[in-house]
Amino acid sequence: MRAIIFDQPGGPEVLKLGEWQDAVADKGELLVKVHASAINRADTLQRRGKYPVPPGASPLLGLEMAGEVIGLGEGVDKWKIGDRVCGLLGGGGHAELVNIHQDMCMAIPKDMSYESAAAIPEVFLTAYQALFWLAEIKKNDHILIHAGASGVGTAAIQLAKLMDAHVFVTASSPKHDLCRTLGAELCVDYRTQDFHLEVMQQTKRRGVDIIIDFVAGPYFQRNLDSLALDGRMVMLSLLGGGKPDHTDLASILRKRLKIVGSTLRSRTHDYKVELTQGFYKFAWGEFENGHLKPVIDRVMDWSEIVEAHKLMEENKNAGKIVLKVS
Ligand SMILES: NC(=O)c1ccc[n+]([C@@H]2O[C@H](COP(=O)([O-])OP(=O)(O)OC[C@H]3O[C@@H](n4cnc5c(N)ncnc54)[C@H](OP(=O)(O)O)[C@@H]3O)[C@@H](O)[C@H]2O)c1
Repeated sequence: MRAIIFDQPGGPEVLKLGEWQDAVADKGELLVKVHASAINRADTLQRRGKYPVPPGASPLLGLEMAGEVIGLGEGVDKWKIGDRVCGLLGGGGHAELVNIHQDMCMAIPKDMSYESAAAIPEVFLTAYQALFWLAEIKKNDHILIHAGASGVGTAAIQLAKLMDAHVFVTASSPKHDLCRTLGAELCVDYRTQDFHLEVMQQTKRRGVDIIIDFVAGPYFQRNLDSLALDGRMVMLSLLGGGKPDHTDLASILRKRLKIVGSTLRSRTHDYKVELTQGFYKFAWGEFENGHLKPVIDRVMDWSEIVEAHKLMEENKNAGKIVLKVS
């Protein structure tokens, strides 16, 4: 089969379309002809040699896919040949064929394209896990979402709005309109404004119940300062660096804060199945009725993979960069 491959770690230019051994459906797995996949930051880190592939996962790039079932492994009883499915992968989505466990698949809604469906799994499952499982979102919570126009951020805004949350985001200002359209009440340009001051003013000095953070180091103290009593913070990335400049830990005790970190890719198969099924049950009707939608920056042919990685690394996308597997 054809797949996106690279011979040695490096910049985007190491990526190319090449040949790889065909994927094979094992027990309980589907063989899927991939029609679309999408880029994630983890792909760019893996390309640079900075994201070791979890044991048992395909070494190929691509953490999600949408496609058509063309083969059934032993014991598959939930799907049939021709079904349209999308799902989260440990790797291997940037290929013509992929094998995926039947319990990790979600049925693509009738009117949804493969390109739209490929933009859902990684960012929506991450945002759902962060808000519902880790931060235990409640109705009407006040929530600060950093990198609000990122793939995960745009999914998190929409999921939070389903809980009637008051959503505040940080993002570069050209991306504010998108965040507002999705439901953000306050958009802060972190390059020119101090999000802590803005959030405290907006909440009349109460602070927010939940922070979804991707920036880490330079935000850590201001995140603690911006949380309300019993606040929860979920840390998903270290985009700004892993070391806080200055931290006064007293507020963690005083405000009874909960701080949790997570990486979805390293979770066990059973955890990911439970997450996928829980998300499908909670959210799939909302995609069908239009309350949730994958936010797509652009769709590119997979032959444009070098350009696609460059765009993401230059922070040019708002929402997902989808790859059409042609
Ligand atoms: N832990 C997990 O389970 C998990 C799962 C999925 C993704 N992630 C991580 O979550 C992050 C978002 O992923 P994504 O695919 O949604 O990303 P994305 O669509 O590429 O968006 C990332 C955005 O973050 C902003 N940004 C980048 N560096 C920044 C910095 N130093 N300070 C402030 N803002 C910065 C940029 O937007 P602006 O224009 O607003 O600056 C950029 O476009 C990535 O780091 C990814 O690795 C973690």
